[in-house]
Amino acid sequence: MHISVVELLKGEKLNQKIELKGWVRTFRANRFIAVNDGSTINNIQCVVDFENTDESILKKVNTGASVCVKGTLVESSGKGQSVEIQVENIQVLGESNPEEYPIQPKKHSFEFLRENAHLRVRTNTFSAVMRLRSNLAFAVHQYFVKNGFFYVNTPIITGSDAEGAGEMFKVTNLNLNEIPKTDEGKIDYKQDFFGKETNLTVSGQLEGETYAMALGKIYTFGPTFRAENSNTTRHLSEFWMIEPEVAFNDLDANMDLAENFIQYVITYVLENCKDDLAFLDTRLTKEESTKPKTERSNMSLLEKLQFVTENQFKRVSYTEAIDILKNSKPNKKKKFQFPINDWGADLQSEHERFLVEKHFKCPVILFDYPANIKAFYMRMNDDGKTVRAMDVLFPGIGEIVGGSQREERLDVLKEKMKAIGVDEKELWWYLDTRKFGTAVHSGFGLGFERLVQFVTGMSNIRDVIPYPRTPQNAEF
Ligand code: 4AD
Ligand code: MG
Repeated sequence: MHISVVELLKGEKLNQKIELKGWVRTFRANRFIAVNDGSTINNIQCVVDFENTDESILKKVNTGASVCVKGTLVESSGKGQSVEIQVENIQVLGESNPEEYPIQPKKHSFEFLRENAHLRVRTNTFSAVMRLRSNLAFAVHQYFVKNGFFYVNTPIITGSDAEGAGEMFKVTNLNLNEIPKTDEGKIDYKQDFFGKETNLTVSGQLEGETYAMALGKIYTFGPTFRAENSNTTRHLSEFWMIEPEVAFNDLDANMDLAENFIQYVITYVLENCKDDLAFLDTRLTKEESTKPKTERSNMSLLEKLQFVTENQFKRVSYTEAIDILKNSKPNKKKKFQFPINDWGADLQSEHERFLVEKHFKCPVILFDYPANIKAFYMRMNDDGKTVRAMDVLFPGIGEIVGGSQREERLDVLKEKMKAIGVDEKELWWYLDTRKFGTAVHSGFGLGFERLVQFVTGMSNIRDVIPYPRTPQNAEF
């Protein structure tokens, strides 16, 4: 039975015969093979006795080849590792032609690696990012389970547009060359697979709410889809969202939950992913050093993560934020692309980043936004113009969480839906939760990739998901 590199490096098998399987990272001096099997960022050094090894085998030990190594785990006298394998037998399981293999032991640009997304996870950076992604997902489930939440799988195919933004991908099996029409000339969805118009979900919230109104505390963690044409470093067309929903929680409790949850998952990876984080910390520091001094972050990746776990998020109302922005230097000097003149303006990412990175210099929770820039389901405040919305804003990322206390009053909700043209008939089941045993409740959505971005320090969201989907791009 073969044993993983992460196990071998613990050194517990010292002076024992072992078998290792993995991929060659480098082979130098016809003697030292660095093997990686994905279990850790670290390679294990395999030392071959080239005089007693078939030359035809050694010729095949190229970067990217898969090998099976048998030998003894011994203490290493060389620098950089405490143990190594004295190779007694090496077998090349799968060759890799060095002329063709794109992932050579040198620095590749992230653009190049994106085009080779099926192989990029064989690099240190991407394997570290993907191991962190996996650990973060585990921490998410662990947090909620520990806190009495139930995991709910909300539908991916849905008839409703939760965010009302109309940025949905259609799901159909109609023949697109011969679309059936009604007498009025409209698409006849009755003939479609589900007998109605359906889409890929933009959020599991509405269905999640119905479950919170029975199970008390729930969360979803699944893929969501948005057909918005945003080509930015923070937007994907397919991304994963974590959406807790809690009956009887008001907005303050919702903010506490968001803060506590984020701090927990970051603490988890700080404790459990030290090697990968140390690697990414060094990577980011190197990348930052190539930037002009004024654009460099004054904290390393690890310092940023610690900062978030150790400091409270600053809670600021939208109205206060507008005052700050209105009187800010960049606004007065007309440096914002979207100047802030009046209360009611929608905040752009430049404003969010100013508040977080320049003004407060810590994560910020903005709350009580104008009703007309937020979704229909948010609870109206007594002032009649703001809703109990909250956005958590992070340095380098901007919005990482969007959430709210929900409108639990049937009449107010109906009126709101009518005003913005949401069909009551479509959401009859959603309204039922307000008819039968309605209660104050709240929840939020955390964009998983934005969290992974923050934790890994990767600047482009396309580099924290295995196969990114973005406008004009669905390769692999
Ligand atoms: O603010 P959003 O649109 O909120 C909702 O969908 C609510 N229904 C959530 C809820 O209350 N249950 O999205 C939530 C988060 C954003 O804060 C952001 O982190 C992420 O989802 N997000 C995206 N991430 C990557 N690519 C995109 N196109 C994203 N759109 C939103
Ligand atoms: Mg939002």
